[in-house]
Amino acid sequence: MNTIDKVNLITIPKVHDERGVLAVIEKDAIPFAIKRVYYLYDVPTDSSRGGHAHKVQQSVIIALSGSFEVIVDDGNTKKSIMLNKPNQGLYIPTHIWREIENFSSGAVCLVLACTDYDESEYIRDYEVFQNQVLG
Ligand code: TYD
Repeated sequence: MNTIDKVNLITIPKVHDERGVLAVIEKDAIPFAIKRVYYLYDVPTDSSRGGHAHKVQQSVIIALSGSFEVIVDDGNTKKSIMLNKPNQGLYIPTHIWREIENFSSGAVCLVLACTDYDESEYIRDYEVFQNQVLG
């Protein structure tokens, strides 16, 4: 099973000139082929998103605008990562529980995923998650 040390920050290359910044995600920038892109916006500050792990989906989460906190958990260890840079992505492999909290006003949370949406590959019950990862 994946452990927390597999969760890592990816720097997305950018081109900066006097007209602003252009960030580009090319196929070698992230460790999987992107199949789906979705994003969260208009999230109330006191809202908690996520609250699940995936059996198959790997993701990269990017704070396109504003900031939020991603709490990742491998069943043994929990870690909180603040995302607030549009050229930084948080890679999350399978079997890592994640919660996303403390959204700033106007925050946009972009998720790049390697799978089509499939509810059957979600683990939404924390006890089931723990049983799976801790055996
Ligand atoms: P949910 O997984 O609860 O969102 P999050 O983990 O970001 O808090 O999904 C919210 C709803 O959206 C739920 O009914 C499933 C649906 N959904 C899709 O239809 N397609 C998708 O690609 C995703 C990610 C969710």
